Amino acid sequence: MSNLSSIHTAASAATAPRPAISAWPNVDNLYRRFAELVKQPMRPIRADKMPQVMRYFDERCQGSRRLSERAKAVIPGGVQHNLAFNHPFPLAITQAEGAHMTDVDGNRYIDFLQAGGPTLLGSNHPAVRQKVNEVLDSCGPVTGLLHEYEVKLAELVCQSMPGVDMVRLLGSGTEAVMGAVRLARAYTGKKRIIKVGGAYHGWSDQLVVGMRLPKTGRMEAVGIPHGATGNTQECNPNDLDALRSQLRWNRLRGGTAAVLLEPLGPESGTRPVHPDYNRQVRKLCDEFGALMIFDEVVTGFRIGMGGAQAYFGVKPDLTVLGKCLTGGYPMAGAIGGRKDIMMMLVGGIGTTAKRAFVGGTLSANPLSCVAGYYALREAQRTDAAGVAGRAGDRLRQGLDEIINRLGLPYVAYNMGSIVHLQTSGVLLLDTSSLWKLFKVKDEAKRRKHMMEEMGAAYTAHGLITLAGSRIYTSLADTNQVIDDALNRFEDVFKLV
Ligand SMILES: Cc1ncc(COP(=O)(O)O)c(C=O)c1O
Repeated sequence: MSNLSSIHTAASAATAPRPAISAWPNVDNLYRRFAELVKQPMRPIRADKMPQVMRYFDERCQGSRRLSERAKAVIPGGVQHNLAFNHPFPLAITQAEGAHMTDVDGNRYIDFLQAGGPTLLGSNHPAVRQKVNEVLDSCGPVTGLLHEYEVKLAELVCQSMPGVDMVRLLGSGTEAVMGAVRLARAYTGKKRIIKVGGAYHGWSDQLVVGMRLPKTGRMEAVGIPHGATGNTQECNPNDLDALRSQLRWNRLRGGTAAVLLEPLGPESGTRPVHPDYNRQVRKLCDEFGALMIFDEVVTGFRIGMGGAQAYFGVKPDLTVLGKCLTGGYPMAGAIGGRKDIMMMLVGGIGTTAKRAFVGGTLSANPLSCVAGYYALREAQRTDAAGVAGRAGDRLRQGLDEIINRLGLPYVAYNMGSIVHLQTSGVLLLDTSSLWKLFKVKDEAKRRKHMMEEMGAAYTAHGLITLAGSRIYTSLADTNQVIDDALNRFEDVFKLV
């Protein structure tokens, strides 16, 4: 593994008082442990202990159960959007503040979901809320005209992110990825996009390809015509040879518009990149005349004000932002990038035929912009990414200690405030060929069920995680919160 620390120190010194990622994980060692985890039999919650977990929901969560029953009548699947698990039913939350949430039945949880990543300051930060209220009092959430905070937020993003000269605010990460791909095609005059297998880039037609597990192609592309995904190609994570071959193949057939990647590795680093991977991809993009797009929807501001691009010292041509951009308030999405490319992007009225079109009635509304501006200013002032990163380190170290002591095969690793806890290994199954994919289909179902049971057990012990395998820490996670959480994780692991 090559050492990135010199790049890292130089790149992040200007943007963050201390690196949000204290050390990049030993990737080769991690992949060995992933392989061991999925090779051996699963270690789920023991069958005789599951009733104890389920009793919690029966005895303590009747309000959530009733609401979820009502929801089933009017919401497909009974839930609009839920990033924690719904097993045995989704919890209904009434209060969220800092590192904790409270459900309708009055149960309190340590919140490691943090809404799926945007609330780096912790939930419902008062300094941001106050500024949002001031704007709501003066002009309401939207006017359709320019507002000062729109400019202030854009200025702050451009000052913070090395690869961003200009920024276009949109409604979501999904929209911003769609726009970035369109812009790359408009700029290069090429149509093919290469993504890394297993990465999630939102749910637009063209990107529901190879989602979650690499090489799964159109497995989840229900309702999407082949034509829509026909120019989206997939490469295995960390496989630079395969990327080069794909770029070469494309060059003979009109070229590649862009390589689109999550800089930590697919699914927020579930399969982490080798430390030099991004730099090598940059070189390949330059060699083959493709744009490099970093999807920093998760990493933007969470890995420091300069995002993963500052951490790795690699400048993408285009950057996609979301989540932390508006501090957990609605409409988190933006495309940023090189000025010459960004000038081809036009929103609203007055477009010319030669430019890539984007829109959105509520895009860049004053509410989202004031929230984003103050959330990012506060993150900068408090070094939120660094503080949350240290909390992630403490949590991962504690998890490692418990896992080793109890002799479990689980794998915990973190990149600052993004902590992965692989217990079932469902996202790590080897799907690198059609045959392997076919072989693991049933196993994936069983492992997913195990993960749901783990998720339920965490919840019953007062811990909310992202889908039972990912944990976002925040500025609000003091040592006390982390140590409390570790005791709870240990109680869950003792049920295995
Ligand atoms: C890396 C990445 N890109 C894009 C998206 C889509 O963003 P949104 O949910 O705002 O549409 C997500 C959402 O989780 C994401 O993790």
